[in-house]
Amino acid sequence: MEDNDPPLACTKPPGLVFSKLFRKGFRRLAFCKVCHDRGVVVQGNRAVPCSCAAQRAILRRFQDSCLPEALRSCTFTAFSFKYYSRQITDSPKGISYHESARLTFRAALAFVEDFGKKERIDGLLFTGPVGSGKTFLACCIANALLDRGCPVLFLVVPDLLDRLRSTYDPNRGPGELTEQEILNAARNVPLLILDDLGAHNYTDWVRNKLYSILNYRLNHALPVIITTNINLEDLEEYLGERTTSRIYQMCRPYRLLVDIDIRVLQRREK
Ligand SMILES: Nc1ncnc2c1ncn2[C@@H]1O[C@H](COP(=O)(O)OP(=O)(O)OP(=O)(O)O)[C@@H](O)[C@H]1O
Ligand SMILES: [Mg+2]
Ligand SMILES: [Zn+2]
Repeated sequence: MEDNDPPLACTKPPGLVFSKLFRKGFRRLAFCKVCHDRGVVVQGNRAVPCSCAAQRAILRRFQDSCLPEALRSCTFTAFSFKYYSRQITDSPKGISYHESARLTFRAALAFVEDFGKKERIDGLLFTGPVGSGKTFLACCIANALLDRGCPVLFLVVPDLLDRLRSTYDPNRGPGELTEQEILNAARNVPLLILDDLGAHNYTDWVRNKLYSILNYRLNHALPVIITTNINLEDLEEYLGERTTSRIYQMCRPYRLLVDIDIRVLQRREK
């Protein structure tokens, strides 16, 4: 079973570890349990490089290629509420789109605030129509934590699946990451963001990959942030019961609702 694969960080069982290192008064989450992110361990009377170095390099290579430059500019201060209507209400909840966006934004801020402070933290599931700011808000979280030096992996689900598929290509370059390296990075990184878990073609192979990542993270109390434009009620139809049930357990759902795609509104503003 894939869940027995060695963890990315080190040979010890992974999980949430609180580093004794303090950075700007923030008690941050250590990526490696063995060296607490110092990169070296003491053996006898000398310091030797920790085994996490290679895995950390893999994560860095992966990370660098995943968060597109354009998304580095998404910050909480740039998030505007003007696109979310005060008049239209989200009928099941009876609150306006504006209020719904405020609740979602607050949950995102609280996530960043709590991350690394609590042993177990709920992830977030952002649902909503096309162009409602789901990816934008997920990137606000990613950027805030990356600025603190916390490892975050931002994966657009269709790209992740393409990358996993490409590892089966016999002509791929020798330096390319292997399937296990990619999966281990997604399983073990302190924060994983799965962007656009949309209405794609979920074959059994795809479902199994997503399940193995999410099940591992659930078992090791590692949070995940997911954006999707599938309605909560329809998620199971795409992902299957086992994965959907785990997402419910790991993530608190929030909605970002707009009557007009923000991309269209921003084009009109120009
Ligand atoms: N609250 C906001 N304030 C300012 N700009 C925003 C906001 N929300 C979204 N945008 C901008 O609108 C565009 C669409 O947003 P985003 O990509 O987050 O939508 P989405 O909900 O992820 O859509 P999709 O379902 O198509 O993935 C982006 O260019 C983004 O920068
Ligand atoms: Mg998106
Ligand atoms: Zn280490």
